[in-house]
Amino acid sequence: MDIRLAPMEGVTDAVHRRIHHRLFGGVDKYYIPFITPSIHRVFTTRDLRNIAPENNAGVPCIPQLLTRDAELFLWAANELADLGYDEVNLNTGCPSGTVTAKGRGSGMLRDPDALRSFLDAIFSASPLPVSIKTRIGFYDPAEWPAILDIFRQYPVKELTIHPRTREEFYKGSVHADAFAFAAAEVNMPLVFNGNLFSVEDCMALQEKYPGLPMMIGRGLIANPALGRQLHGGAPATHEELQRFHDALMDEYAREYPADTAHSRMREHMKYLSCCFAGAEKALKAIRKSTPKTYPAAAAQLFSLPLAENPGYDPDVFTK
Ligand SMILES: Cc1cc2nc3c(=O)[nH]c(=O)nc-3n(C[C@H](O)[C@H](O)[C@H](O)COP(=O)(O)O)c2cc1C
Repeated sequence: MDIRLAPMEGVTDAVHRRIHHRLFGGVDKYYIPFITPSIHRVFTTRDLRNIAPENNAGVPCIPQLLTRDAELFLWAANELADLGYDEVNLNTGCPSGTVTAKGRGSGMLRDPDALRSFLDAIFSASPLPVSIKTRIGFYDPAEWPAILDIFRQYPVKELTIHPRTREEFYKGSVHADAFAFAAAEVNMPLVFNGNLFSVEDCMALQEKYPGLPMMIGRGLIANPALGRQLHGGAPATHEELQRFHDALMDEYAREYPADTAHSRMREHMKYLSCCFAGAEKALKAIRKSTPKTYPAAAAQLFSLPLAENPGYDPDVFTK
């Protein structure tokens, strides 16, 4: 099975990638969250923290760019090639208002002519093969056939489809029919992304599309052993989760100021709490914690037994 970890800005950083790869594995490729190349044509310290090869040593990674400026895309792709990457991923899926307002991410799907000229320019000069991660429309799934018709004109290395519109963000169910349409209509290699939260979800997809690569986000953050399980390995033990938590905390503390390290840990714990039975009270304590009170709040979570079916629970995120 071909399992990829979805890029999640603020969650799947280099610290997480290194530790996840070492302690759990089961992920064939890790996508680096988006980088927005600036007109100054230098990577920021934050970008470099994510993409510097020494920060991702031994971890198979694909960097992602978020821009609608073809020249800046090509500048960044050249830099990434020099750093040793062998693929670059284009983000045409980000639904955030601040991103789409600038015509980037899924905002690119609103303007087919501009998208076409952008793709003409990058595919004719990119030093690296380009893969794309996309949504199926901005407002309406009815936009999908026309968008797909644009992508199919280019030698896209892989098209990862998150079958939702921009308006749907990450909520509700995915449009399985939009993915099926692409699978039937185009020859380019596809990757599926969206709502794969459990071994069962992934197996059901594999039954429909044998061998289809799966990009998993929230499901793998909530259950870090999911990739390993899909490769036939064991579920996470209590001890492993504790070790994973402690390694993340130590490494964040080494690399970031206390406030940033604390907020990264709080974010991870929101997801990891899905591994524990009756986690609400402990999660509330973690949410309200300060860097000083965090260790006690985390210990509260780790005093709980494992959930029978650990996995991403959307309810945790709506409270
Ligand atoms: C907090 C957060 C940050 C994200 N950051 C990125 C990103 O940098 N690039 C990207 O292509 N998608 C990003 N996404 C979308 C995910 O990669 C993925 O498409 C989404 O979570 C749906 O997949 P899932 O149902 O497996 O979680 C982000 C999603 C979340 C929740």
